[in-house]
Amino acid sequence: MTTDLSTKERLMRELIEEIRNCKRCALHKTRRNPVPGEGSLSARLMLVGEAPGYWEDVRGRPFVGAAGKLLNELLSAIGLSRGEVYIANILKCRPPGNRDPLPEEVDACTPFLDRQVELISPRVVVTLGRHSTSYFFSKAGLEFRRMGDVHGKVYKIEVLGVSFSLIPTFHPASALYNPKYRGMIEEDLHVVEDLLRREGIL
Ligand code: URA
Repeated sequence: MTTDLSTKERLMRELIEEIRNCKRCALHKTRRNPVPGEGSLSARLMLVGEAPGYWEDVRGRPFVGAAGKLLNELLSAIGLSRGEVYIANILKCRPPGNRDPLPEEVDACTPFLDRQVELISPRVVVTLGRHSTSYFFSKAGLEFRRMGDVHGKVYKIEVLGVSFSLIPTFHPASALYNPKYRGMIEEDLHVVEDLLRREGIL
């Protein structure tokens, strides 16, 4: 979809308002704030995580806790700031205790993510972890087995009429528990950096 910036801003404002009023699943009862997503509406790179955690729920913004601090560092290592990308999640509301998203929550919530993808129309999507990776794989008709098989690879896909390169990597939270993941995410992001340079985006 080719849309001028002021139309995109209006459509995104409407979408955020819908998310704020959403009661499509039970998570609205326990959330403090929904976390719609944030960043540049002209971003060529979109990052998609899993769901808000404790601090995201408190602040209503994606990736502002410990995993977010690491994500900021990883992005700046490839010359990008948060303001240049768009960051969203599979779920817009925090699952209690940070449990995994339930299939019915994913079904209820992902139409919002789909609209964000259509609106931003990114050239590259980086999925952070297995939940967002399996979501995009299934949309593209690809089989997803495990992150170890797919991370750091470039999948040229078309989803919702938008063609982009999908590059899965591990969730930054995994690097907080096991440092070996940090190196792997860094390597995967260098693949992203090379692609963005080749496409004249960086
Ligand atoms: N983890 C996620 O997947 N998303 C966030 O916004 C924060 C932590």
